[in-house]
Amino acid sequence: MRKKATVIGSGNVGATAAMRLAEKELADVVLVDILEGVPAGKALDLAEAAPIEKHDSRVIGSTGDYSAAKDSDIVIITAGIPRKPGMSRDDLLSTNMGIMASVTKEVAAVTPNAILIIVSNPLDAMCHVAYETSGFPKNRVIGMAGVLDSARFRAFIAMELNVSVENTHAFVLGGHGDTMVPLPRYSTVAGIPITELMPAERIDSLVERTRNGGAEIVGLLKTGSAYYAPASAAVEMAEAILKDKKKILPCAACLDGEYGINNLFIGVPVKLGENGVEEIIEIKLTDLEQEALNRSANAVQTLVDDMKRLG
Ligand code: APR
Repeated sequence: MRKKATVIGSGNVGATAAMRLAEKELADVVLVDILEGVPAGKALDLAEAAPIEKHDSRVIGSTGDYSAAKDSDIVIITAGIPRKPGMSRDDLLSTNMGIMASVTKEVAAVTPNAILIIVSNPLDAMCHVAYETSGFPKNRVIGMAGVLDSARFRAFIAMELNVSVENTHAFVLGGHGDTMVPLPRYSTVAGIPITELMPAERIDSLVERTRNGGAEIVGLLKTGSAYYAPASAAVEMAEAILKDKKKILPCAACLDGEYGINNLFIGVPVKLGENGVEEIIEIKLTDLEQEALNRSANAVQTLVDDMKRLG
């Protein structure tokens, strides 16, 4: 049976994710936005590229009519405002929490069995909104952050060592913000830990660049934030779920005592398959790494508490 993926928000991240889903023939795609004409226009444009790109995915767009999302296997939520220079992801909180709550309510009503992949920022806090608003079980609400942060780290490792990106592997855990936790010990090139391949100060500088990876792009674009790599990351997660790959990827998942953290969405390695988060993988952390993860969890908890105050 054909798979169906709905993408909420047909802006930069949403439209790029729709393009990648369609071109990889992972699913038929529905684009939804509040803007009049834009989702239908971008969907038609993508459908007209299909003969050249050689795929048979169907792509349609809808303004505000969520019935088009009925029976989706996956819903990727990118609705919200992006950052401008000088803004942190956390500055988006009050606007995006309202948008996230309203779109999740609509999604949960029309497609109650879908798996949600959350992309809007501040990511970990938005996962809480989607989880609470949808009432979905925690295995079906997953945040996209770790795959993106790890891809940025991998790209910088490949540039530094002049090796193929395909040889690189990296793990970035924690919240999707300044407190994220890149793990050099678990980051490898052709299976060799980068701690064997680079002096500590070079690793530190790549870690720092990864932490600021989003801000570096906001500073260059000036009018918005990154979207090619965020869309690729969300689609890698979608692919793992749609194809039931049982793939281990760093994603924001709701922890229930794992890593000593309770009732909080934060980035950890998870196994993704047809049921969404099928397992949370607990890797052994050093004391320093665990402290960094705890600091990151505290930063996410502060945002969750702020949202309660904002109502
Ligand atoms: N319902 C549906 N769509 C909405 C709603 C809503 N209530 N509110 C806003 N949108 C749409 C906008 O109309 C716009 O088309 O969300 C889209 C966002 O697109 P962009 O402004 O291009 O932002 P983008 O770069 O795609 O980022 C979206 O993802 O990476 C994060 O931080 C980023 O939170 C931001 C989100």
